[in-house]
Amino acid sequence: MEKLVVHGGNPLNGTIEVSGAKNAAVAIIPAAIMASSGVSNIDNIPDIEDVRCLERILESLGCKIKRCNNSAVIDSTCMTSVDACTDDVRKMRASYYLIGAMLGRFKEAKVELPGGCSIGVRPIDQHIKGFEALGAEVKIEHGAVCVKAEKLVGANIFFDVVSVGATINVMLAAALAEGTTILENVAREPHVVDVANFLNTMGANIKGAGTDVIRITGVKELHGCDYSVIPDQIEAGTFMIAAAACGGRVKIDNIIPKHLESITAKLIEMGAEVIEDEDSITVVSKGRLKAVNVKTLPYPGFPTDVQQPMSALLCIAEGRSIINESIWECRYKHVDELKKMGADIKVEGRSAIIDGVSKLTGAVVKATDLRAGAAMVIAGLIAEGVSEIHNLDHIDRGYPKIEEKFRVLGAHIDRVEE
Ligand code: EPZ
Repeated sequence: MEKLVVHGGNPLNGTIEVSGAKNAAVAIIPAAIMASSGVSNIDNIPDIEDVRCLERILESLGCKIKRCNNSAVIDSTCMTSVDACTDDVRKMRASYYLIGAMLGRFKEAKVELPGGCSIGVRPIDQHIKGFEALGAEVKIEHGAVCVKAEKLVGANIFFDVVSVGATINVMLAAALAEGTTILENVAREPHVVDVANFLNTMGANIKGAGTDVIRITGVKELHGCDYSVIPDQIEAGTFMIAAAACGGRVKIDNIIPKHLESITAKLIEMGAEVIEDEDSITVVSKGRLKAVNVKTLPYPGFPTDVQQPMSALLCIAEGRSIINESIWECRYKHVDELKKMGADIKVEGRSAIIDGVSKLTGAVVKATDLRAGAAMVIAGLIAEGVSEIHNLDHIDRGYPKIEEKFRVLGAHIDRVEE
């Protein structure tokens, strides 16, 4: 078991490169199995455990994968199985994209129900509603989702909630359905657009991704292609917040500034300086920042996945901040950990009321989930003295080499064996 040891209290200075987007990569890799000819050469894949987990799952289905640095060549022409029921499938959330991908290509799939961060109830009723509307029979048996269809036929589907997962999953299946599918009330996250672009490069016909209506004209088959995953909006946001929290001047490079507008706006409201360039953002922070209120919303609103890192910054802002978490019902498990470091936070239902304190102090804490882990790293960097962060498996699922990237910025942070 490993832990991070952080000596806090130093400003951050320098430039970091953001990796490829986790939540795009974990959909694009399953989508690659929809190619019935050719291989897919996917670049800018983040080096994280969720990606390694998916690659193992694809190999268990008979795909061949060659990994080289940030690229992977995926050959799915030799797939032998549509039965994905392994420990790896249960470990992660995004394994549910195998349902849409295999249903599209093979018209059947059996996929164990997914795991992932424990941040509240995570139903998949909207995914199922979409598959059924396309003509599939869906059953949950022995903890697995079993889907089967004679054929898939395009349909008009209006989602009851805005769901990233359901939008992508149904888009995958519909790409190989007969006729036209219209998806309404869809998620507009950058990774939804990235998956649509990937599918189009494979030969699909998808229009409207990034708006709230997606129109898919089904094609008979998809082929392998070359593709590069977009930069990670959430990793970039995490580093922007860390820079604002620790003070200093940090350039966050290899990003799409438009994807970060809601975070940029909040940091400016708090008093930080944020300089946008074509593919970078520089955050300059001097002195104590002001408290702000934050409400998480689907894109282009403030991302729920940045709420926990943001809460670490708000712990030391001047005044009272109120966070309203509108996406997940239980995304405050990190609050008890922040309190060990001297934070003053009360959680009432979906809200967290944070009264800023002048400093945090180092403590032994744990990552309760992925983004909670990032929040604890930021808190450790702010805090006076030494912090230890345990349960790194959560952080490693989604942040590539987090301690190395922070060290580039002058942070004193080491990964050591417990
Ligand atoms: C994706 O989860 C991300 N995960 C999450 O990131 C992210 O927090 C979330 O989108 C929201 O942006 C991946 O992309 C792998 P949703 P997903 O379906 O797709 C409700 C991280 O830290 N809902 O958009 O599972 C649901 O309960 C992770 O990287 C239904 O009611 O989220 C939630 O309240 C954590 N029925 C809301 O919709 C459904 O069928 C949004 O969920 C599906 C969802």
